[in-house]
Amino acid sequence: MTELIVALDIADAQAASNLAHRLAPVGALLKVGYEGLYGYPVEIRATFRELGARVFVDAKLCDIPRTVEAAMRALIEPGVEIIDVHAFGGATMMRAAVAAAARRTEELGMTVPPKVFAVTVLTSLASEDLDDIGLHGQAADHVVRLALLARTAGCAGVVCSALEVPRIKTACGPDFQTICPGIRPAGSAHGDQKRVVTPHDAVELGADFVVVGRPIVQAPDPAAAARAIVEELRAVTEPR
Ligand code: C5P
Repeated sequence: MTELIVALDIADAQAASNLAHRLAPVGALLKVGYEGLYGYPVEIRATFRELGARVFVDAKLCDIPRTVEAAMRALIEPGVEIIDVHAFGGATMMRAAVAAAARRTEELGMTVPPKVFAVTVLTSLASEDLDDIGLHGQAADHVVRLALLARTAGCAGVVCSALEVPRIKTACGPDFQTICPGIRPAGSAHGDQKRVVTPHDAVELGADFVVVGRPIVQAPDPAAAARAIVEELRAVTEPR
């Protein structure tokens, strides 16, 4: 079953809280990214607590291991199911993040630690963009290499394009999970995303989670847009 994660990419705390409340009946996970984490961290955490939301903290941590460990400690609280780091931070950094998640969970008396996912190659980058930063070859090859490293470091899975999921599952095993942004219902604008897949195709490719921001947040009725995507995901998983 592929689960929906809605990216609450909104500049204003009140609007983010209103949207989170409207989306609550849909049952999706809620993702807080840079806007909420840097702009209104206290308010968004209060909203999540109030709703008892299932949360993905999209912190995309990438720093020396000690600093990442400190950030993990500050970000974990009940309700946080997923936190991500950049695989480019290296294996020692990823291992430090996983260990910090386990330690902090115990200190807080939580039962299950948040899953640590590693961002491989951002879905806004294509192979040509990687060339510019000296990473030659196909994006998918870099993604699979980083996924194998993330698995060795103890991560639960990776953030990648759904296009790369079949290769990741083959290389890392079916239980190594995938979170896939760059999801666009047929006909919606791609914006800055480049490695794009429809919700339907993401399920067929085996994505465990899909992340959707603008097609929901900017829709005239965000809850209806989220429900339509959940139905599209379900229709592939449980065909009539
Ligand atoms: O609006 P859109 O659906 O493109 O939003 C995608 C969300 O997923 C954004 O919040 C973005 O920060 C996040 N994300 C991403 N690519 C990654 C990791 C996270 O697009 N590799």
